[in-house]
Amino acid sequence: MNNLEKLIAQATADFSAANEIPRLEEVKAAYLGKEGSLTALLKGLGKLPPEERKAAGANINSAKAQVESLLTERREALRNAQLEAQLQASALDVTLPGRGPSRGSLHPVMRTLDRIEQLFRSIGFAVADGPEIETDWHNFTALNTPGNHPARSMHDTFYLLDAAGQVREDVLLRTHTSPVQIRTMLAHAEQYRHLDSMPEIRVICPGRVYRVDSDATHSPMFHQVEGLWVGENVSFADLKGVVADFLRRFFESDDLKVRFRPSFFPFTEPSAEIDVAFMHGPMEGRWLEIAGCGMVHPNVLRCGGIDPEKYTGFAFGFGPDRLTMLRYGINDLRLFFDGDLRFLSQFQ
Ligand code: PHE
Repeated sequence: MNNLEKLIAQATADFSAANEIPRLEEVKAAYLGKEGSLTALLKGLGKLPPEERKAAGANINSAKAQVESLLTERREALRNAQLEAQLQASALDVTLPGRGPSRGSLHPVMRTLDRIEQLFRSIGFAVADGPEIETDWHNFTALNTPGNHPARSMHDTFYLLDAAGQVREDVLLRTHTSPVQIRTMLAHAEQYRHLDSMPEIRVICPGRVYRVDSDATHSPMFHQVEGLWVGENVSFADLKGVVADFLRRFFESDDLKVRFRPSFFPFTEPSAEIDVAFMHGPMEGRWLEIAGCGMVHPNVLRCGGIDPEKYTGFAFGFGPDRLTMLRYGINDLRLFFDGDLRFLSQFQ
């Protein structure tokens, strides 16, 4: 190693031994300062014989350039280390993404209920409400289903206990939204008692209902939307028109097929199940049961305070949970009630 190489090696060692910038600047002076060794070598050039001067000068200058670049490199490294230490020490990391408020969203079944309300409001229906803890009379008896009626067994529900822990026979969790028909008719008949001819009743009643039932397509709590239209000369043809039009608008499908299949409900006569079939998509051509309906039974009108000789009406009951499953292609009803955000946040 010649002298210049030794000098560079020494500078490298000295620079890396300097652990802080002020110390590094001191070390720098020993090489590049006024009294520094490289400066001294350059000054000494004049004493050399002229033929050696040029080559020696070039060597010294190249060594000086190397030392300068070593210095810059070390200075950068120290500066970065200092910044890193500062960032570590302070709690504020401005490079983290912001947290922002988390956004909630409507439950898919609520979206369906909103949509159903909107569509029925647009053809003049009001929205009626009723209690989920219902009397046996409103839920069954007034709907032409007296105590010994076999149809009651299809509506196995939850009863309530009294203060002594005994099952109460007179109150229960409603098994359908049909009791709201009775409440609506009674209130309406009372309100227009003084008129010869009362205005029409046109309501839908969305809400929660309860039955002892639980599997992929049944849950002990589910939703229904009851519809009721009572007036003079309301016919089954009106029922078909209203329901078919609603379903085509709900599914945004003009070629949706709708059929009315004769059935039985104690509170309607005649009664029908409503089936739909899609003309495209994964369910194409399959009939799916979607609602029950019929002309309100004269006994039911009477229990609602309405004269069955003068007025007729139709009623229907939809399952909005089922409608939501069909609209979004969901195959398990329980997903709606598990509260799993991975499922729910897909409807934002
Ligand atoms: N309430 C009936 C049920 O839950 C459905 C229905 C409503 C049928 C109105 C006819 C008329 O099964």
